[in-house]
Amino acid sequence: MFELTSLKIPLVSVTESAARACAPFIGSGNKDEGDGIAVDAMRAALNQINMDGTIVIGEGAKDEAPMLYDGESVGTGDGAKIDIAVDPIEGTNLFAFDNPGSICTLAAAPAGTMYRPGDCFYMDKQVYPRAATGKIDPEAPVADRLKSLADTVNKDVGDIKVFVLKRPRHEDLIQEIYQAGAKVKLMGDGDVNGAVMAILNAGVDALMGIGGTPEGIVSACVARAMGAEMFGRMAPQKSAEIEACERSGVDTGNWLRRDDLITVDDILFVATGLTRGEYVNGVAMARDTTGHFITTDTVVIAGANGNVRRISTTVHQ
Ligand code: FBP
Repeated sequence: MFELTSLKIPLVSVTESAARACAPFIGSGNKDEGDGIAVDAMRAALNQINMDGTIVIGEGAKDEAPMLYDGESVGTGDGAKIDIAVDPIEGTNLFAFDNPGSICTLAAAPAGTMYRPGDCFYMDKQVYPRAATGKIDPEAPVADRLKSLADTVNKDVGDIKVFVLKRPRHEDLIQEIYQAGAKVKLMGDGDVNGAVMAILNAGVDALMGIGGTPEGIVSACVARAMGAEMFGRMAPQKSAEIEACERSGVDTGNWLRRDDLITVDDILFVATGLTRGEYVNGVAMARDTTGHFITTDTVVIAGANGNVRRISTTVHQ
């Protein structure tokens, strides 16, 4: 039995402490330095928790950035066997240039329940809110999907807004969205953030397009916890990645369902805001003669019931 309840606050402490550690580097222009500090702080905090944890979805391999690596054991080794997907800084450029939407995040679930993407670094994703679950055919043309979505959320297609990462690979997708009459929220980075926005109805109605696979697994955890909809298919972009995916027999045409990406409801998703976001505040720092005060804002989504909690923590240093 997954000890979800007892891990909630310890796992919140993990993203909070990573956020506090890297916050002084927000706007520093140096994404790797802040990322490395967040990784170290996250690892140290994870290792204090009584659990037998494994990082199954690390981050960093794609960009050769600092990372908690896939297969790394975390926790004291006592307690429940847990799979953990981490993204110590999701949106490292947003963080480095103090743009909205960077978060420190992780998702946890019982061991063996998260999809292992192997060497596939990129995933094509579709994320829709709860009302659309089971109502959208992932194979359908973009215009048809947007019409189905609009019908299920009781909006005109013209009022539907889709989060898309600003990348040359998305030029056709963006045109298809416009031609369908819908709108695009074009963001430079941060598609976990985009997925959560779509799931929580926080500024967009859907997410479409290709982003990182680790971010895709974290997004699937949020979708399942909230009863929302997600599809993902492997979309290798770089030649070494394409060859590795071919060697391991990955079917890039196949849309995996949300429940293939994460096979249980018993999920915990935690995200602490680094820079200001649509559903979570950024880190706030203040000082007086007694020292520094760092306030973090964290969203916690627990699976099965999909309860969304906000936790504000102020630490005096
Ligand atoms: P980082 O936080 O690792 O910089 O990732 C930011 C991000 O925008 C993700 O949200 C997204 O999934 C991925 O990069 C897309 O990858 P790429 O920048 O290579 O297109």
